[in-house]
Amino acid sequence: MVFVIEEAGSVTDELVEAIGHLLPFLSSSSSPPSTEELEEIVDSAATVLLVARDGAGGPIVGTLTLALFRIPTGVRAWIEDVIADEAVRGRGCGEALTREALRIASQRGARTVELTSRPSREAANRLYRRIGFSPRQTNVYRYEM
Ligand SMILES: CC(C)(COP(=O)(O)OP(=O)(O)OC[C@H]1O[C@@H](n2cnc3c(N)ncnc32)[C@H](O)[C@@H]1OP(=O)(O)O)[C@@H](O)C(=O)NCCC(=O)NCCS
Repeated sequence: MVFVIEEAGSVTDELVEAIGHLLPFLSSSSSPPSTEELEEIVDSAATVLLVARDGAGGPIVGTLTLALFRIPTGVRAWIEDVIADEAVRGRGCGEALTREALRIASQRGARTVELTSRPSREAANRLYRRIGFSPRQTNVYRYEM
């Protein structure tokens, strides 16, 4: 069955539960977002929360968040928090989410889309390269608060 990718337009109990279920596949340290936090993501013009359903009307089995914002050099787009439920891995859920994010980013005027992925995330790195992402030569810095 094909994955149906939808933009979350409102925060339902189903969405809160699904994100809470999916998040631990990505991060063991982040606590799942509350309803209010998800509303902030869904309501913001700078973020698009995508969900993947296993078939039309099926359960939510994946998610991706696209961040889009204008800076002086143009519209920037970042793909973040890509997660597919373990039970559906290898069937193209991650690919379908990423391709839809690329389509939306292009439609909103982004000329490039960025993401980062630790080398140890082998499946993710294979997926992004297969789709056409290539490593960018830059230093990625983080300031810990
Ligand atoms: C990365 C992730 C979203 C990919 O989701 P997915 O739905 O399996 O993606 P796809 O089916 O489109 O492609 C998966 C790739 O991983 C490989 N893969 C890795 N583990 C697999 C598994 N258990 N079963 C099947 N395929 C697997 C596939 O071979 C495929 O690569 P290939 O087609 O080049 O061989 C998913 O593995 C995941 O949620 N991982 C944990 C969170 C994470 O690392 N997110 C990315 C953060 S940067």
